[in-house]
Parts: sequence; structure tokens; C-alpha cells
Amino acid sequence: MNIILRILRYNPQTDRASQFQDFSVTVEPTDRILDTLMFIKRNLDGTLSFRKSCGHGICGSDSMIINGVERLACKTLVHDVAEEENAVVTVKPLKSLPVQRDLMVDYGVFFEAYREVKPFLIPAKQAERAENIQTPAERDRFDDPTKCILCASCHSACPVVADQNVDFIGPATVVQAARFVFDSRDEGIKPRLVVLDKPNGVWPCENHFECTRVCPRGIKVTKNINLTKRAIKTFKEKTNKDT
Ligand code: SF4
Ligand code: FES
Repeated sequence: MNIILRILRYNPQTDRASQFQDFSVTVEPTDRILDTLMFIKRNLDGTLSFRKSCGHGICGSDSMIINGVERLACKTLVHDVAEEENAVVTVKPLKSLPVQRDLMVDYGVFFEAYREVKPFLIPAKQAERAENIQTPAERDRFDDPTKCILCASCHSACPVVADQNVDFIGPATVVQAARFVFDSRDEGIKPRLVVLDKPNGVWPCENHFECTRVCPRGIKVTKNINLTKRAIKTFKEKTNKDT
């Protein structure tokens, strides 16, 4: 079949604004959108810029907006987004992150927030030299957020980040915090509160659920945000009671 890939392009050296360019390509319905982008780059326009690495939904580097929805190009088949001959498939870079060129965005702000939340185990002092046993139920508690591949699809889809508060740390950062906040071996909720409990921390989330809808890993992002809000409240109540 034939499809028209309508790609939003931008070259910072020559363009004042982004503009769409159409490419007509012959494809199989089971080809991935990443395959069609690679075909265009190799055969039609070598300047087309996008990121990709693993090609198998693991690295998170080829998240983009395909027909209006954040998706991984390597996990999106042509027949997922184009049914009839000469169907138009629009491809745009993620929202809420500056465009560097074509489909490539600058992840600087995204990873800055990620680093601030201390995405690593902060163990209890007494456990540093001993084995730190964890029950299967305790391990289950943080299984969902371990699946995050930092693709930023949720950040792009979040209406709070896009329309109201560009400084909101965003859903992915809270998911990364939840990974450790709910780990029975971790005692790092206090240093993480510096990021999570500030006005632009977890609190701006309004439960739009767009993050959950687009997450390519099926993470219950909104649920993790709400659980983190509850954990902060419980921690603060306990701390106030103890002092
Ligand atoms: S929570 Fe999901 S959508 Fe957000 S960065 Fe992680 S994998 Fe991507
Ligand atoms: S190329 Fe790695 S997730 Fe798509």
C-alpha cells in the first residue's frame, strides 16, 4: 500500500518556523513507522532528523506524536495508524520540549527534573553492610514504575505541563520517584520531598489521565502520582506527630 507521511520539519539554521513536508512511500501494513522514517532518510531526504536506538521499545528515544498521539515509532505499525490507500499519517515532535531539529527535541529540562528527584536507592544506614531482605509483596509495590523507559511521552501529553505550568516536574519524574519511595529498602523520601513537595512538585497534577493513556509501557502513571501524594501526606503527618 501507499501512505503519505506528513512530517513536521524544522531546521534551526534555515527555518523561522516549522512546516509540514509530505513524503509518499510504499509500505507493508506491518511495517513500523520507524521503518518508513528510515526509508525516507536513506532514500528520499538524508537531512530528515529523528532519534532511535534499540528499535524494540526499550530505549525510549523515538517517542513522537503520530496522528495526534504520543507513541514510539518502533512500536507503531502502519496499520495501527493508516487503514486505506494513500492515508495521511502526521508525524510531529513531542510537545513541551524545545525542538532541536525535525523530530528531535531537547530533553534537558526533562532529565534535569529526573536527576533532582534522586532516582537511585538511598538505603537505610544499618542495611548498608547486610543483605536487605524484601518480600515478594514488598517488591510488587514498586513493580509498575520500574517499567519506565524515560521516553517523555507522558510529559508531552500532560495538559498541565503544556497549558498551565511549564515548571511542573511532570509525570515521568514522579514515576521515577515512586520507584524508590515505595521500595521497602529505601529511606530517601525526605531528600526527595525537596523536589516532590514544592508547589511545582507532585501537587499541580489534576488527574487528567493523559499520561496513563499514552504510556507505551502501560504504567498507571496517574495512580503512581496519587500514591506519591498520599505517601508525602502520611510522611509529613508522622513527622509532625513525632516532633
Ligand atoms: S511513565 Fe511511561 S510515558 Fe512516561 S516516561 Fe515512563 S515510559 Fe514514558
Ligand atoms: S528505538 Fe528504542 S524505544 Fe523505539
